[in-house]
Amino acid sequence: MEFVRNGDEIFPDLRVNIGSLELKNPVMTASGTFGYAREFENLMNLHRLGAVIVKGISLAPRSGNPPPRIVETACGMLNAIGLQNVGVERFIKEKMVYLQGLQIPVIVNILGDSIDEYQEITERLSGVKGIAAIEVNISCPNVKKGGVAFGTQAHMAKAVTEAVKMKSSVPVMVKLSPNVTDIAEMARAVEDGGADSVSLINTLIGMAIDLESRRPKLANVIGGLSGPAIKPVALRMVYQVAKAVSIPVIGIGGIDSTEDALEFMLAGASAVQIGTANFINPRVSEDIVEGMHRYVIDHNLSSIRELIGALEVK
Ligand SMILES: Cc1cc2nc3c(=O)[nH]c(=O)nc-3n(C[C@H](O)[C@H](O)[C@H](O)COP(=O)(O)O)c2cc1C
Repeated sequence: MEFVRNGDEIFPDLRVNIGSLELKNPVMTASGTFGYAREFENLMNLHRLGAVIVKGISLAPRSGNPPPRIVETACGMLNAIGLQNVGVERFIKEKMVYLQGLQIPVIVNILGDSIDEYQEITERLSGVKGIAAIEVNISCPNVKKGGVAFGTQAHMAKAVTEAVKMKSSVPVMVKLSPNVTDIAEMARAVEDGGADSVSLINTLIGMAIDLESRRPKLANVIGGLSGPAIKPVALRMVYQVAKAVSIPVIGIGGIDSTEDALEFMLAGASAVQIGTANFINPRVSEDIVEGMHRYVIDHNLSSIRELIGALEVK
């Protein structure tokens, strides 16, 4: 299905705004499930995406955890990749050239084990052409604070956000960890820290055990649960966060159809990210964009933006 362009009018209108960032549609790929985009160039039309979010980047390259690192679970998967990545220097030298050639916004996901590291990566990325926004993964352990994840304590989540904002030349999206008691408190903390938008959820911590060997199925013992199994939890958290903050919210978690994506938008998400579903159908994001076109036409909407937060509770 194609857009019809009539001057500035686009029909069906799938455009959404994430603060100052305008996306031609609300569908992005979730970090860590889409490589550095090039891996998917022969599998789908990358230009149909609203934006691409690349694998999390740290200051130095990381080789990740030992295998096994992935386990299939009921309606989902557990991963303990351990944030394997090429590091910021190689990312800029080897991956950015290709990404700069894409006609879609590129969002770089960053991680660190100290506030200084988050700041240094941001500084390093700041002058680089072709980066539309930074997404900050705060589900990482703060090594200087005994390994407590930044995203599980409001004051640390706020401090990382402030540090990244101070150095960033592009909008900052902060990605929340769901492994907390009060997700709204975390969202408010990063909003206070200056986040331009908030994305959620990252994976839920889980584990799986092999009965015969009596050993954990993941070498790392515990890992992150993702896929359809987490969708109801993610949807609930997006709903709560959208009510708690005034910055745009991006929904993530178990989305593998247009219907799933639209549920997140009704709950208050301005856009969505597709993660684990890419492993099952690498074209899924494109299919979801098509499905949104059809939905807007079939339901006679002037724009998909009409759906954002339009959930009726009473
Ligand atoms: C294999 C794998 C690797 C991931 N790597 C990252 C990462 O580097 N940075 C990050 O912020 N999230 C990472 N995530 C989390 C996803 O981006 C997403 O938040 C999560 O999987 C929930 O969405 P889903 O159910 O659609 O997969 C990873 C997830 C998976 C499955």
